[in-house]
Amino acid sequence: MAKFVVPKDVFHGLGSLENLKELKGTKAVIVIGGNSVKANGSLERTENYLKEAGMSSVVFSDVEADPSIETVKKGAEFFTQEQPDVIVGLGGCSAIDAAKAMWIYYEYPDSTLEELATPFAVKAMRNKAYFVAIPSTSGTGTEITGLSVITDREKGTKYPIVSHELTPDVAIIDGELCESMPAHVTANTGLDALSHGVEAYVSNIADRYNDALAKGAIELVFKNLNAAHTEPNNKEARQAMHDASCMAGMAFTNVWLGIVHSMSHQIGGTFGIPHGCGNAILMPNVTRFNSKVTDKYNDLAGLFGKSTAEDFAQEIETLRASVGVVGSIKEYGISQADWDAKLDTLTQNAMDDPCTLFNPRKPKFEEIKALYQACYEGNAITI
Ligand SMILES: NC(=O)c1ccc[n+]([C@@H]2O[C@H](COP(=O)([O-])OP(=O)(O)OC[C@H]3O[C@@H](n4cnc5c(N)ncnc54)[C@H](O)[C@@H]3O)[C@@H](O)[C@H]2O)c1
Ligand SMILES: [Zn+2]
Repeated sequence: MAKFVVPKDVFHGLGSLENLKELKGTKAVIVIGGNSVKANGSLERTENYLKEAGMSSVVFSDVEADPSIETVKKGAEFFTQEQPDVIVGLGGCSAIDAAKAMWIYYEYPDSTLEELATPFAVKAMRNKAYFVAIPSTSGTGTEITGLSVITDREKGTKYPIVSHELTPDVAIIDGELCESMPAHVTANTGLDALSHGVEAYVSNIADRYNDALAKGAIELVFKNLNAAHTEPNNKEARQAMHDASCMAGMAFTNVWLGIVHSMSHQIGGTFGIPHGCGNAILMPNVTRFNSKVTDKYNDLAGLFGKSTAEDFAQEIETLRASVGVVGSIKEYGISQADWDAKLDTLTQNAMDDPCTLFNPRKPKFEEIKALYQACYEGNAITI
């Protein structure tokens, strides 16, 4: 038996932002990051559609990348002052994740981050407001997931808050918002969406509902990421990538992720390697490693008229290179001495990461270490 959870309403397609006109409510707070949603006009359009819905709205701005707990608390105070009954997260995943966490503190002001980071600790939400997510990047799937990632900079730790209570009520997947996304963000976030599809597809709790979504997302990324990367105003490619990210999000919020993410979280936190790029470096070798216990990568090779996990690993390498992402960790300028000094800690933290629980092959410490070493050098692994 299993449960499948997604937002109640998912509006998708070019121009679907307009569905905001149909929302019910009195007052909205719109949470945004920097200037990108002002510059591309989506903030103004959001405000106008909310007005047409009979709502007033106010904006909380300046959410930084990898949002901090301080920003979250500042936002929650703003919510308390403004008393919205609708919260709109608009922009990249950082803005939406911050809005989700502000929403928790608005509903439960005495929350602490440590307590919220315990899986499924979030209490019943929607006593004061419901949540609308409108992404402008095509990667994390936060518009679908019961997940918000908040950083405690003092402790140097990222806290994932995990609960189906955080699954947005309304998601709007409008590819027009992504046309202004810079090429390197398109590549990084698109490769993240690919890794969500692949890790959900091979998850040890995968089921056929999520398989269909994950495989569909993977196919869309392979067919559209190059076009979205090189032709920013290619609306069809932008919408296809946005749909891929959302579908991969639907799959992974239900069957979770594996050691690509366990390992990428560590190299992201320690060396600042962008999340999707780190995933794309790790994914081919994790494919080779996991393929010893599952034949699901052979199915994925079938998308290219091929049949082996090695074929699929090489397709990822080709896509990665075509969007300008390097093939090894060391190409991020990490010295051998720095790498050697940190390798055991990276390995242990990857072993302890919750995503490791859902990987199809249960890894040993020495195996994760060997995977890291091969990816540092850019070599193919044989274990
Ligand atoms: N909630 C989840 O499910 C989940 C999953 C994985 C990662 N995360 C978290 O997501 C965050 C990263 O999110 P992200 O990859 O979406 O990046 P982001 O939100 O940090 O945005 C990256 C940059 O792109 C800009 N940008 C975004 N959309 C744009 C557009 N349409 N046009 C021009 N510029 C645009 C932003 O202003 C920012 O400078 C991290 O904090 C990570 O830990 C969350
Ligand atoms: Zn990811």
